[in-house]
Amino acid sequence: MTYKVVLCGCGAMAKGWLRAVQSTPDLKAALTVVGLVDLNESVAQSLAAEFGLADIVIGTDLNAVLEETKADIVFDVVIPAARHSVVTSALSRGCHVLSEKPMASSMEEAADLVRAANAAGRIHSVVQNRRFIAGVRRMRRFVESGAIGDITAIHCDFFIGPHFGGFREKMDNVLLLDMAIHTFDAARYVSDKQPLSVYCLETNPPGSWYAHGAAANAVFRFSDDVVFTYRGSWCAEGERTSWESAWRIVGTRGMLTWDGDETFKAAVAGPEEGLLRGFEPVEIPQPLRAEETHGHASVIADFLAAIRTGQRPETTGEDNIRSLAMVFGAIESARNGRVVDLAA
Ligand SMILES: NC(=O)c1ccc[n+]([C@@H]2O[C@H](COP(=O)([O-])OP(=O)(O)OC[C@H]3O[C@@H](n4cnc5c(N)ncnc54)[C@H](O)[C@@H]3O)[C@@H](O)[C@H]2O)c1
Repeated sequence: MTYKVVLCGCGAMAKGWLRAVQSTPDLKAALTVVGLVDLNESVAQSLAAEFGLADIVIGTDLNAVLEETKADIVFDVVIPAARHSVVTSALSRGCHVLSEKPMASSMEEAADLVRAANAAGRIHSVVQNRRFIAGVRRMRRFVESGAIGDITAIHCDFFIGPHFGGFREKMDNVLLLDMAIHTFDAARYVSDKQPLSVYCLETNPPGSWYAHGAAANAVFRFSDDVVFTYRGSWCAEGERTSWESAWRIVGTRGMLTWDGDETFKAAVAGPEEGLLRGFEPVEIPQPLRAEETHGHASVIADFLAAIRTGQRPETTGEDNIRSLAMVFGAIESARNGRVVDLAA
């Protein structure tokens, strides 16, 4: 069966979605783009031209385009502020929805979207593409194997200076809301623990070209006494980390580091006596399933499989709201200077 798709929000990221669909034979066969929606119709027109989408409906109003196309699926690639209205409109018209991250602009809106998807009996899932990559899958598999014992801590560093322009340079809490969500979600996935509380210091460092919150330092308590720390800045020029962050995972028997790129290192304690025990390198197997390592294409495939089988997608709103709670907990902590409980 093929599904009719309307893509809403035809800006920069929409190209990544269409590229993922067009370059993945299974997705290309299963999905037909029947409509494009953007507040700026010329943006939608150029996207259609760029991707050779002829004979489709193009408009500025999602409801009207859904009415005309009778689409089964909405790809929601709008800016975060517009997400709630786009998702609720699509669900109320019986569509399954796959949204870009972040899932919502507030916890209230996110909870409302979970309710709306359940009430409509449709799937609402979130593109948390940076957990569908080889490095993150590899870390999860390694942690699960117990090779470094039980994990006790995860530490992530993220320092990059991108000059995006656009909505990011105007929004509040830009790093936490627009980027840190990826690392928070990946840490939750890799550890397979529940976030319980957070303390966060958020700043907009001197020299920042963002309006608010370009840097954040957060300490999370996860279940089973696991600590997750995040140090990040989006206005850090020069010697930078990977977009995936630089990772250190500490276990009871050893540690794993990943530079967020190609370099993984893991070792457990060696046999030496004395102050330090030396170390013995440990092999880090490749991810178990290669099909889960293609970013957007893998998330879209997971979403489609869920529609076909009736099973929950991995990043369904009901799950993703827990990563969003880490973000909003960190924002609240930064505001009031106190530890925020996430378990409630
Ligand atoms: N997963 C990732 O790696 C990743 C990377 C970049 C961006 N994103 C996310 O993708 C989303 C879009 O980001 P972008 O960089 O493409 O932004 P963008 O500003 O380039 O594009 C957003 C588009 O949405 C349109 N739009 C806004 N409100 C609308 C509405 N109500 N109806 C229809 N169209 C509407 C705008 O006109 C604009 O063309 C954001 O949520 C962002 O966080 C995700």
